Amino acid sequence: MESKVKTIGVLTSGGDAPGMNAAIRAVVRTGIARGIKVMGIRKGYNGLISGEIQELDARSVSDIIHRGGTILNTARCMEFMTEEGQKRGAQMCKIYGIDGLVVIGGDGSFKGAEKLAGLGINTIGVPGTIDLDIACTDYTVGFDTAVNTAMEAINKIRDTSASHERCSVVEVMGRNAGYIALWCGLTNGAEEIFIPEKGPIDENKLIRHILRNHQRGKNHNLIVVAEGIGGTQALAKKIEEVTGIEARATILGHLQRGGSPTAIDRLHASMMGAMAVELLIKGKSNRVVAYKHGTYEDYDINEALKMEKSIDEWMIEVSKMLAI
Ligand code: ADP
Ligand code: F6P
Repeated sequence: MESKVKTIGVLTSGGDAPGMNAAIRAVVRTGIARGIKVMGIRKGYNGLISGEIQELDARSVSDIIHRGGTILNTARCMEFMTEEGQKRGAQMCKIYGIDGLVVIGGDGSFKGAEKLAGLGINTIGVPGTIDLDIACTDYTVGFDTAVNTAMEAINKIRDTSASHERCSVVEVMGRNAGYIALWCGLTNGAEEIFIPEKGPIDENKLIRHILRNHQRGKNHNLIVVAEGIGGTQALAKKIEEVTGIEARATILGHLQRGGSPTAIDRLHASMMGAMAVELLIKGKSNRVVAYKHGTYEDYDINEALKMEKSIDEWMIEVSKMLAI
């Protein structure tokens, strides 16, 4: 098929996520394999506006499939939230001859992509965020690595928590979403998991649970809190004051965003990056690549942004049963 686009750009935007490099590599090499020129845009929409744009050849993405972060750097760009910034972005695409753009990022980045599509630039989004908070897809690039990293860190906290017979309160990332917390909570065997989707913590109920656990012979407790709930330090302090059981708070923070991507993240990044280019070749625009019910699909960005993601109630139920 004769490609409808001749030159494509690729950028990473929002928080970095492990596997973004594998996605960049897939875009660059699929593009080149299909006879398309590929331009790398640095620092997200900031670099698009300021013209930090350079051609990428097949070798420029060598040895990055296993590296965390993003070789193109990423940014949150306030200027791009304005109509002027978006027009400038579209103008820069025209100046550099970019007639198709792959945006690797989260929901916010896709809103920017949608604006560019409206200004005549063919755009495709690839879901890249550790938060898993994109409704149209079952996986986002980076989530699996972040969960594994947090799980490994919590394993270590469990060792010391068990030795001292303490209550450990661990806060994980996820912005307003509780997926990292829920997955880590279940896979680390947490006694309690608190996620924003389920509302604020009932502290009295929690304290009753901790005391009951003690009576049941549990000599330490692990509590996983999503950052969207927060208040982790204060919670640990209150548990210690009220129960008399020593409590410690740990906020895992940005270590969850780094590290070599897992096989799952490399696989989705490679497949989704390649698919984004194939969609551009077919002349499609304003689409998001997704992995849904075991297949790769694509959705209209506007529709994707309107979808709502629900929390798996059965997962919550199982995590409670297994914590007895
Ligand atoms: P993520 O893409 O991970 O959700 P952000 O929400 O921080 O991260 O968004 C990344 C960037 O996308 C923002 O800094 C901004 O440049 C762009 N963006 C976000 N929302 C919009 C919007 N409504 N219109 C245009 N651009 C947006
Ligand atoms: O969206 C990814 C994420 O790591 C969220 O989990 C977190 O809330 C946020 O980014 C942190 O952003 P920053 O790196 O700007 O502190």
